[in-house]
Amino acid sequence: MSQMVDLVIFGGTGDLSTRKLLPALYQLHRDKLAGRLRRIIATGRSDMDSATFCADAEANLVRFLPEGDWDESVWASFSERLVYARIEASQSDDYQRLAAVLDQGGAPGRLFYLATLPSLYGAICQQLQSAGSVNAASRVVLEKPLGHDLASCRQINEEVSAVFDEEAIFRIDHYLGKETVQNLLALRFGNPLFHPMWNNTFISNVQITVAEDIGVAGRGSYYADTGALRDMVQNHLLQVLSLVAMEPPASLKATDIRDEKMKVLRCLEPITTANAKERTVRGRYSAGAVSGTAVKGFLEEDAFHDADNTETFVALKASINNWRWAGVPFYLRTGKRLARSYSEIVIEYRRQPFSLFANDPQELTNKLVVHLQPEESISLHTVNKKPGLTSRLRLKPVELHLTDDSQEKHSSYDAYERLLLDALHGDQTLFMRRDEVETAWRWIDSIIEAWDENGTPVKPYNAGTMGPNAATALVAVDGRSWHE
Ligand SMILES: NC(=O)c1ccc[n+]([C@@H]2O[C@H](COP(=O)([O-])OP(=O)(O)OC[C@H]3O[C@@H](n4cnc5c(N)ncnc54)[C@H](OP(=O)(O)O)[C@@H]3O)[C@@H](O)[C@H]2O)c1
Repeated sequence: MSQMVDLVIFGGTGDLSTRKLLPALYQLHRDKLAGRLRRIIATGRSDMDSATFCADAEANLVRFLPEGDWDESVWASFSERLVYARIEASQSDDYQRLAAVLDQGGAPGRLFYLATLPSLYGAICQQLQSAGSVNAASRVVLEKPLGHDLASCRQINEEVSAVFDEEAIFRIDHYLGKETVQNLLALRFGNPLFHPMWNNTFISNVQITVAEDIGVAGRGSYYADTGALRDMVQNHLLQVLSLVAMEPPASLKATDIRDEKMKVLRCLEPITTANAKERTVRGRYSAGAVSGTAVKGFLEEDAFHDADNTETFVALKASINNWRWAGVPFYLRTGKRLARSYSEIVIEYRRQPFSLFANDPQELTNKLVVHLQPEESISLHTVNKKPGLTSRLRLKPVELHLTDDSQEKHSSYDAYERLLLDALHGDQTLFMRRDEVETAWRWIDSIIEAWDENGTPVKPYNAGTMGPNAATALVAVDGRSWHE
């Protein structure tokens, strides 16, 4: 798609579009990176004209852009690209009107961004095709969640594939748009220092944490039916895990990287009724305090009174059954209303076989910590001699920061900027292929079946903590603790 592109956002009036997509597009426009983009056609069900939509968009950008990024002159030229079209997903007349708008604009490329209910994705694609809006240069971006389980994911994939080829389907996981997640590839495959030690001979365990201090208020019945395992592990955590664990790809082309990620997902040992008790912990926040503010428990939120079988926290011990990772646990945890919001990957190295030092406690292991949010950086935890004229050599921890100044600037780009740019240019590397998403669902489905069959309880934890005590025990039985 080297030609000009019209971007059509289904769900253009929704939360995602307002908080993430329009600000990201504004930034790309400001930075002169959106040269290929002609118009942004936002759709929603309300009957309004483009001028009214623009007035709302302006107010929202002022509110949601990072401080200092609002600029009247940038807005003046950006707003010329904005068009609003009313579309009710099931109404074929609305698609005919959209087709006329697309034809008038004359941009040969079309990028349809589906930021609305996933249950509508198949119908929207079919309607676009019937209205003659899908051409050879058309692509579609699908927001998560792609289904509720393997069967519903397959159904969405079938429906979308009936209209678009796999090469034209961009399944988004915004974690893959983070600068530091991509930097993992540079770190692993660009540094001879790390690569030889990236295996079970040197690494004792890997921890991936995605912690949020926010609750689930405002997410309606969606979260009650979903829970943390489906909402976060199926996509973000498994995507990050596969990038950490994959073999060196044949090249940096999308197919080669996705092939290697896919092999990792296929090597995940199933969690079943037989081992789910030792491998998984489910939790649900009770009332507590986050950053000094009292907050309600999950079941006290209006929409969730009956959701007593929904977890807001999950911790897992995953195993990757291949030569590189056999015997190395991958501990994953994610939750709401935790002590603070942060995401990180911790690669913990094995201890040396024998220590020469008097004070060499367990916590002084070498660790490579990849911080994904709030700040994006990488640090290497090592030890040094404790300075001073003491009679014995003693150790002290030292953190080496592997992030340079220019990288900090680029890290401040939002993941959606990166992903929108790649979708406009047709680069699928940072998007999920159909087989990846379906294989991840198969693994998740097995855990949910095990929970159902075992009647696995959802353990309470106080809001403002790091989850139920059982999550601490999950790693403690292996003689380890979570990196905090
Ligand atoms: N919000 C996030 O941070 C976030 C993060 C990751 C993924 N997502 C995913 O992104 C998608 C959108 O989420 P959201 O939070 O933006 O939802 P939202 O705030 O509820 O917005 C939904 C959007 O879809 C439109 N819509 C709903 N039903 C429609 C129909 N029958 N026909 C046509 N348009 C319809 C709405 O139009 P009206 O305004 O006219 O009702 C609105 O623009 C979901 O799949 C969600 O899971 C969201």
